[in-house]
Amino acid sequence: MRAITVRSATISIISIFLIILFVHFSSQPSELKSSLKPQFDHEDINAKQSLDEKFMSFFPHGDFATQHEAVRNALRIALETNRTLILPQVRLGKTWDWQPFAILSKYYESQDKQVLKTSCRLNQRNWMTKYQPCQQLNQWIELPWSTFFNLDVLRNEFSIRIIERTTDHNWGTRDTLTPFLKPEQVIVLDPTSFASNGSDWETKIKINRNQKPESSQEEKDSLKLTTGLKNVIRSQDLMQINQRYIQFGSLVYGLRFLTNASRHQSALQRALRSNVFVSPNQFHAVNQVSQTIVNALGGAGTYNCIHMTIGDLANTELLNQISMKRENAAIEGIKFVDDTKLSDDDGQPYNATQLLNQLNPNAQFDLMTALVRELNGDMPINQAVSVALPLKHSLLRDLLSKPYIKNRQSLLDACIDYRKAVDTRYPIYYLSNDVYKDIHQHSELFGPLIKAFPCMFTKNDMYLWGPVDSEWAERIHGLNDLEVDYDDLLSIVVEILVASKGYSFFEVPTTKLTRLLSWN
Ligand SMILES: *[C@@H]1O[C@H](CO)[C@@H](O)[C@H](O)[C@H]1NC(C)=O
Ligand SMILES: *[C@@H]1O[C@H](CO)[C@@H](O)[C@H](O)[C@H]1NC(C)=O
Ligand SMILES: *[C@@H]1O[C@H](CO)[C@@H](O)[C@H](O)[C@H]1NC(C)=O
Ligand SMILES: *[C@@H]1O[C@H](CO)[C@@H](O)[C@H](O)[C@H]1NC(C)=O
Repeated sequence: MRAITVRSATISIISIFLIILFVHFSSQPSELKSSLKPQFDHEDINAKQSLDEKFMSFFPHGDFATQHEAVRNALRIALETNRTLILPQVRLGKTWDWQPFAILSKYYESQDKQVLKTSCRLNQRNWMTKYQPCQQLNQWIELPWSTFFNLDVLRNEFSIRIIERTTDHNWGTRDTLTPFLKPEQVIVLDPTSFASNGSDWETKIKINRNQKPESSQEEKDSLKLTTGLKNVIRSQDLMQINQRYIQFGSLVYGLRFLTNASRHQSALQRALRSNVFVSPNQFHAVNQVSQTIVNALGGAGTYNCIHMTIGDLANTELLNQISMKRENAAIEGIKFVDDTKLSDDDGQPYNATQLLNQLNPNAQFDLMTALVRELNGDMPINQAVSVALPLKHSLLRDLLSKPYIKNRQSLLDACIDYRKAVDTRYPIYYLSNDVYKDIHQHSELFGPLIKAFPCMFTKNDMYLWGPVDSEWAERIHGLNDLEVDYDDLLSIVVEILVASKGYSFFEVPTTKLTRLLSWN
């Protein structure tokens, strides 16, 4: 867990920004339709593509921040190799972890919602529903990256050619965007799956190309991998590939793909760490909701954000419990039996709720107590001091002395007031978690947190009091699948925008999201 302090923009900049956004979007009848439209149609690209134009693409995996990381790496490689990046969409909601190339490609290909819906409705199980289970059909959506991020600045300032693949999931030799390529002009490159595709990590000794293993054997070997190979692709290796289309596997692990520190490359890296492809601020409805939440929390710089992935915490805790029970059984000389389950009978990992429910209330309480201790340690020092002091005479103190606070909106008002008038360091929190909407119904888990930090608010609060209309996402033009909870799926983007205007951001456990927010 790590805390970062986020620069806060001034109110005036925000309002100018909003005015610009408003002017920009009010001239477009349907924000989403326009961004869902592919950037080029096929005839266009046939006409425009020069005879030597080269291409690259990759397969996404992981959560929003992980997919974002892969695109950053893809941009770096596209710049290095002067290849047009064929960009898959971002998948929100349920996704998968790293897989060997052949499996990752199946996950990618199988995402056709219309086909899946038909199969699921007819109760037909096939290879696609194996990768995209019917019960998860409404737990994910795909959207073009340009829905959230400004890609034109990459095109214009860094001359990176980007085409978004928005209509299908055809890749490599069958890519609908490059029908003019012959199969021999396409090559697969995935150093995390195929030993021959890279140099060894430690020794950097190039694998002997003359003794290149059979592709089919390499593919068989790759299927046994549970984590990616630690091979490196050097810039020279990338540049030597003559095929006009490189289909990468995972591009999440950037250290596997070395690029030279040219002037252009350094400029791109600087931009990617400051203001380019950093803020998902191109989606009007999402911007509006996050700004409303920022305002409700007292404005930019007034609050801290906490992002808790309880499923991961519970998973770690359960593993600890299992190994402790095993040890105890060994000491006592009895047979080790355990009914803890981390995945279902089909091998699908249990979701956060299923994991948490296997921890008894005391274990949940202890888990949170430990987290509060960590949070206290990671808090900016001025806030840590403030929260440790007894509250001064105030409306906040009066409210908190009551056994139960009925009106949480008045609590937020009192918190903001206390921070403005009494102690500018007193922390206000905006919390998100992957299990419970209403944290106040679950004191077995959140009790220690709320006790330590009473000014703790959630999206649920915002929806109950009405600064945010809980149906905002259902009204977005173009997102019209009634079975999909768009609010839930878009919440990661809302959260990034809210957190980027906060005072600091904490994440437990830490993921790539913390890094993404450090650039915001
Ligand atoms: C980069 O690729 C484009 C498209 O094929 C080509 O027109 C351009 O000349 C290439 N630039 C360099 C420096 O090779
Ligand atoms: C990477 O390995 C695969 C599987 O062996 C092979 O088909 C492909 O040609 C290799 N790519 C490169 C660039 O060596
Ligand atoms: C990248 O750097 C290496 C070592 O400095 C050099 O040999 C190679 O030619 C460079 N490649 C490019 C594409 O500039
Ligand atoms: C977790 O799985 C259970 C059982 O399959 C299901 O009832 C529940 O809705 C799931 N929870 C989430 C948050 O997906």
